Amino acid sequence: MPVPFADLQLQYQTIKGEIDGAIAAVIRDNAFIRGSYVDAFERDFAVAADVKHCVSCANGTDALYLAMVALKVRPGDEVITTAHSWISTSAMITHAGATVVFCDTDGLTFTIDPSAIEAAITPRTVGIIPVHLYGQPADMDAIMTIARKHKLWVIEDCAQAHLARYKGQPIGTFGAIATYSFYPGKNLGAMGDAGAVVTNDAGLAEHMTMLARHGGLVKHQHQIEGINSRLDGMQAAILSAKLPHLSGWTKARQEAAKVYDKGLNQIEDVVVPEVAPERRHVYHLYTIRHPRRDALAAHLNANGVQTAIHYPTALPFLAAYGRLKHRPEEFPNAFRDQGQILSLPMFAEITRQQLEEVIDLVRKF
Ligand SMILES: Cc1ncc(COP(=O)(O)O)c(C=O)c1O
Repeated sequence: MPVPFADLQLQYQTIKGEIDGAIAAVIRDNAFIRGSYVDAFERDFAVAADVKHCVSCANGTDALYLAMVALKVRPGDEVITTAHSWISTSAMITHAGATVVFCDTDGLTFTIDPSAIEAAITPRTVGIIPVHLYGQPADMDAIMTIARKHKLWVIEDCAQAHLARYKGQPIGTFGAIATYSFYPGKNLGAMGDAGAVVTNDAGLAEHMTMLARHGGLVKHQHQIEGINSRLDGMQAAILSAKLPHLSGWTKARQEAAKVYDKGLNQIEDVVVPEVAPERRHVYHLYTIRHPRRDALAAHLNANGVQTAIHYPTALPFLAAYGRLKHRPEEFPNAFRDQGQILSLPMFAEITRQQLEEVIDLVRKF
């Protein structure tokens, strides 16, 4: 039985009427850029994320850029982030004008190690960007304690963690700003690129709105030099149609993860995802570790099971950061993980038989 890594077509078929209706309404109303559909999604997502303000933008990468520019990052400033993420997190630090400082992960959860943050702080440090990687919250109590002690801002990268919680509190509500991606494969995904920044600070929200809309809130009144980073009406309407399903889809992902955990955790050499206490993991990705990862992936792929690696090279070791001359021993956990991690098929509609098929094939390997 073939098992795809994710199945966006299947999700579309389950809510086809709602999606088609949303797209038709945007076309009927000529509401392609700005307008009521974008406003409605911003309101709805702010409620879902439990924040006062949501400012939509073109994608999750721009969201990080907007957040750092709003927090007035300057050349010479240092921003600390994790060695294990998608490159947007670190690249936007550079594009916002600051210097990237990487920290290792904690060795268990794939999220940033708070003790490594303490060690990386210098007089030039201005902020920390934890990433709730794969859908598991980073250790926000420890991170916020460090941030308060050293007077640093925190931007939470929530691209993979819609509706995740840390000690009962929604992620994205700890730092000054949180950023989201609605890339199609994300837990809440558009049918194209889409993103948002959220905050409880009205001043930051207004500033990010201006930045993302050519520097002004009113047409032709440019208060600052902004960029063009808009969520379009079609994507907003699609996201609003999907949002009511997000909670159910998240539960389905968590149920699928339970089946994987139970089936895989007795198998020799397989390390199932470790969830730290009081963290609500939303399983954007179900990522195991295995010492012979490439052979396991080849075996699964040869038997019709799609897998992926998130990510094959940890950020400090990418060619893009060759200038920093990082060595593996500086980031032992991220370095170990890049050679062992394997993401298994995970999507809300995955069936019990598909999960059993994957488990069975891993066991046979
Ligand atoms: C952790 C993380 N941050 C940022 C982004 C950037 O989001 P986007 O692809 O919408 O620009 C992604 C997307 O893959 C991500 O996984």
